[in-house]
Amino acid sequence: MKIQQIRALEILDSRGKPTLQAEVRLSDGTRAVAQVPSGASTGRHEALELRDGEARYAGQGVRQAVRNVEETLGPAVLQMNAADQAGIDRRLRETDGTPDKSRLGANAILAISCAVARAAAMSRGIPLWRHLAGDRTPLLPVPMVNILSGGLHAGRNLEFQDFLVLPRGVDGLGDMLEAIVRVHATTAKLLHSRGYTLTGVADEGGWGPRLESNEQAVALLREAIEEANADMDIALDVASTHFHEDGFYTLEGRKRTAAEMTSVLEEWIPRYGIASIEDALAEDDWEGWRTLTARLGKSVALVGDDLFVTNIDRLNRGIETGVANAVLVKMNQIGTLTETFGVIDRACEAGYTAVISARSGETEDSFLADLAVASGAGRIKIGSITRSERLAKYNRLLEIEKWELPKAD
Ligand code: PGA
Ligand code: ZN
Repeated sequence: MKIQQIRALEILDSRGKPTLQAEVRLSDGTRAVAQVPSGASTGRHEALELRDGEARYAGQGVRQAVRNVEETLGPAVLQMNAADQAGIDRRLRETDGTPDKSRLGANAILAISCAVARAAAMSRGIPLWRHLAGDRTPLLPVPMVNILSGGLHAGRNLEFQDFLVLPRGVDGLGDMLEAIVRVHATTAKLLHSRGYTLTGVADEGGWGPRLESNEQAVALLREAIEEANADMDIALDVASTHFHEDGFYTLEGRKRTAAEMTSVLEEWIPRYGIASIEDALAEDDWEGWRTLTARLGKSVALVGDDLFVTNIDRLNRGIETGVANAVLVKMNQIGTLTETFGVIDRACEAGYTAVISARSGETEDSFLADLAVASGAGRIKIGSITRSERLAKYNRLLEIEKWELPKAD
């Protein structure tokens, strides 16, 4: 299972923005590809996504990252054993040599890291999730699904970014998805009946209507859940970093402190049945987060996305100082599979929930579904149930549930 050749390609993501695909060939003839996602509401502390900065694609091209795969990173791991993920990821990091992967690009590095894993699984003749799991106990995750979008994913119609549903029951994924589709459709029906125009879907496939307030969106979602007769909690991604400035959160034209933001959310939790809140406060507001966690950490999942950026040092700081109780896991925030698993395993050990997450710019690669199952994390956030870059993952989960997981255990 030696790595014989690595090449890369500039492809497009779900927003029509360039991203990378890498292909790994092994000595036994196995050939596997992986594609890299890309965020819009990114955290300041994420590993660097290398962009060309030239005229084509308004500076967003990734030709240099492609060259870095083919001329520098790929050659550095040639002849290595594809099953040695940790060794390969270490070599990739050393070849880059910077803490944030800014020399060769986290996008270039991640493309190789994932393609190697897929090639190794194929060569072993086992499902990707089984190969990735190692000693972990695989588990089919419960999806947190976007129904209404705001923030940077929907033209800043609302400040909050994601209004999601989180199924409460113990149904299989097939039944959960059926209920989620019902809520998505009921939400559209309610919006139409109140005169809101829906001309398409937002970046992650949810509806992006111009509602009057964030609370109206939460209330509408609760109404849709009840009308669709679904047993679901609500989850929010406040993504508050993106409306935080000079120590204040500007919500619906009013400046609020971290304590005031916390109070708003505290009232909504019982009123609307909220079970999970992501990035309630900004990425560097550690003090605000500590108070938030002390006040709400017993009643809901407090998920750090921009806060932790899938970075073990930031997660450790959170664990040590009583900040948050869950971590959003995005492979491209950190850039290798091994570091991603490092964060998931550390979270589990500390009693934090890990939520395996897609980006708002995605591809048809379903890698994330296998990662979620392999990690045993229990939760996945992919976006909505429309748009094929999202469905590639849901449909892969259905396949794993029905054809692979029962047989394997
Ligand atoms: P992003 O959004 O991929 O644009 O960062 C997803 C999220 O914030 O969870
Ligand atoms: Zn987020």
